[in-house]
Amino acid sequence: MRPSVTKSGAACGAEIGFDLAQDIDDPTFREIECIFHDNIVVVFRGQQLSNERHIEFSSRFGELEIHIVKKYLLPGFPQILLISNIRNEAGEHIGLADAGFTWHTDTSYRRRPSRCSLLYAKEVPHRDGVPLGDTVFANTIAAYEALPEPTKRRIEGRKAIHRYSARRRVADSPRPKLTAEQLSETPDIAHPIVRTHPYTGRKSLYVTAGECIGIEGMPEDEAVDLIAELDAHCVRPEFLYRHKWQVGDLLMWDNATAMHLAICDYALPQRRLMHRTTVIGTVPF
Ligand code: SIN
Repeated sequence: MRPSVTKSGAACGAEIGFDLAQDIDDPTFREIECIFHDNIVVVFRGQQLSNERHIEFSSRFGELEIHIVKKYLLPGFPQILLISNIRNEAGEHIGLADAGFTWHTDTSYRRRPSRCSLLYAKEVPHRDGVPLGDTVFANTIAAYEALPEPTKRRIEGRKAIHRYSARRRVADSPRPKLTAEQLSETPDIAHPIVRTHPYTGRKSLYVTAGECIGIEGMPEDEAVDLIAELDAHCVRPEFLYRHKWQVGDLLMWDNATAMHLAICDYALPQRRLMHRTTVIGTVPF
């Protein structure tokens, strides 16, 4: 079976018709990888993946990150991070309940931020038959290309400073506070605002107001305003794709060329359970 492609018709996103449970030879994998790079966000619908298979397919894209918040790693499968609003018998969340509630790219606080993330939908909340808990993506290649030339010149060669603990959380976030050791593991890190994709060479914007606290060599006020301006530009409607989940979706996105936001429009007894793997990428340039 060869992968088929149906584009979303939005700024990014495509559905790949392919059963990921089958063996994937190298040429077929390269074909999937090209479709992924072209479309930035791709979904494989109707998958039935074991944890092992999810990890195995993800690992074809590179080494997997073990998320810094250890409490929500799937027992026996530390490469899988649970994202969920479900509570156990003790009343504690079984996964990160507030993952992605601000626009961000995964692990931008690392020296080698994530290449891509692969989110597998196990339970999807609904109201009146309509799925809730969508994930929205912004195509940051299109956003970069649409910038006015003076803004492109202004940010050329500049680096934004990313801080993990700067990420805004929901007011009553159940997420454990980072320990002193975890904080020392995630020092502020500067990455180019204009990134060059390591595989395709395409340029994209790599900056979010939720995670970037400044720009190297720029006064703080000016930097914060510029970050806010670039963030608002990236999430203009014409750059977006909104994913409506179905159980069995394996959705993957390119963290170098997309920002994303999880929409929290559901609450228990509407249950949401996602398994995420996160592939480590290269040092941005
Ligand atoms: C994330 O930011 O990785 C979570 C996305 C989601 O749960 O929709």
